[in-house]
Amino acid sequence: MFKKISGTKDILPPEALQWQSLEDSARKLFESYNYRPLRLPLIEEAALFDRSLGDSTEVVQKQMFLIKHQEQVFALRPEATAGVVRAYIENQLDKTESFIKLYYIGPMFRLERPQKGRLRQFNHIGCEAIGSADPAIDAELISLAGHLLEAFGISGEKIKINTLGCPKDKKALAEFLRKALSKDLGKLCADCKLRHKANVLRVLDCKNESCRQLVRAIKLDQGYLCADCRDNFQEVRRYLDSLAVKYEFDPLLVRGLDYYTRTVFEISHPELGAQDAIGAGGRYDNLVKELGGADMPAAGFAFGVERLLLAANRKPQSAGKDLVFLISLGDKAKQQVVKLLDELRKNNICADTDYENKSLKGAMRRANDLKARFAIIIGENELAKGTVMFKDMLSGEQKEVSTKDLLKELS
Ligand code: HAM
Repeated sequence: MFKKISGTKDILPPEALQWQSLEDSARKLFESYNYRPLRLPLIEEAALFDRSLGDSTEVVQKQMFLIKHQEQVFALRPEATAGVVRAYIENQLDKTESFIKLYYIGPMFRLERPQKGRLRQFNHIGCEAIGSADPAIDAELISLAGHLLEAFGISGEKIKINTLGCPKDKKALAEFLRKALSKDLGKLCADCKLRHKANVLRVLDCKNESCRQLVRAIKLDQGYLCADCRDNFQEVRRYLDSLAVKYEFDPLLVRGLDYYTRTVFEISHPELGAQDAIGAGGRYDNLVKELGGADMPAAGFAFGVERLLLAANRKPQSAGKDLVFLISLGDKAKQQVVKLLDELRKNNICADTDYENKSLKGAMRRANDLKARFAIIIGENELAKGTVMFKDMLSGEQKEVSTKDLLKELS
């Protein structure tokens, strides 16, 4: 018997309904912020991610699902931002709109060691705003993330923010960290010893306890920031305050992907345990240019849907629409039921029947199990009279209704 691959999930009907309702509220809210949907390939050239996320990041080094085909190497997308920017440049979206807001919902793939809240195929609900460096956008994104959580029925989250500054500031920050860590080089894990040389910011994401201890002891002020970036961050914070967004400033927050500049943020939830980040994002002002496009500042974020559902901790909902269950007694009545089903469905009424040749008792039990609101029974008698037996499954009341009045009865 085949089994699903470790780190993947089957989302079965009751849970799938919960997904649908989460996605529906996300779409509604994104659209009220004037974000528009886009759908992109799940597979891209692997080099796109090396270049965007950075080739010394965990994701690129250890977590990419790679597919080699002749001379080419493809990757299942580990995240969506790189693909959105690739599509933005390739489709010349900057030529039609100088500023564009886009959102997406879909699966991502990372070859990680699976555990609670950490999958190999997981889903993002995310958005990107490309073409503006306005700090009001950073604040709008963080506030939108909070509104999404509210719409999903999630509370108790913690929002942490920081700024990495412009590329020059990021270099100064790296230099500062390199110096701060160099006296304890021997205490860093083997990976971090390499990171210390190649990409020291990544030491800040290391989960190894001895590295974390060293990182926690670093006293970071914002001395690495240039005046512009310092003002910019102040403005982001002012906007957040005026939107009454509650956040915490964390000078050690750098995020695990290299494309970030200036504002970065991460949202965690206590319900989740070790993998407590439910969403994250930030600015990536140089990525469009680095991938060959115009000089377009941008920012965005993504939530992990599986983690949202863990945080929401909600019971799967039942189907939204009332079900009408049709039961036929005999072949001729079955013909009539098939026709009636078609008519009801065309009138946007959720209707179904028994396709397993059950007895009347069995079919009624099925209607009960499906929590049907009404059962409609048609036998030889009803056929002859042009009526149906109409049963209200809540009250148990039963009456004869003329077939031509059925729609009226159900409206
Ligand atoms: P990220 O932090 O790598 O950012 O992923 C965003 C969210 O995806 C995480 O906070 C987490 O909830 C979820 N996630 C990540 N990996 C897994 C996993 N293995 N299993 C389950 N959930 C996971 C990004 O991907 C950026 N593209 C976000 C962004 C958009 N930045 C700017 N625009």
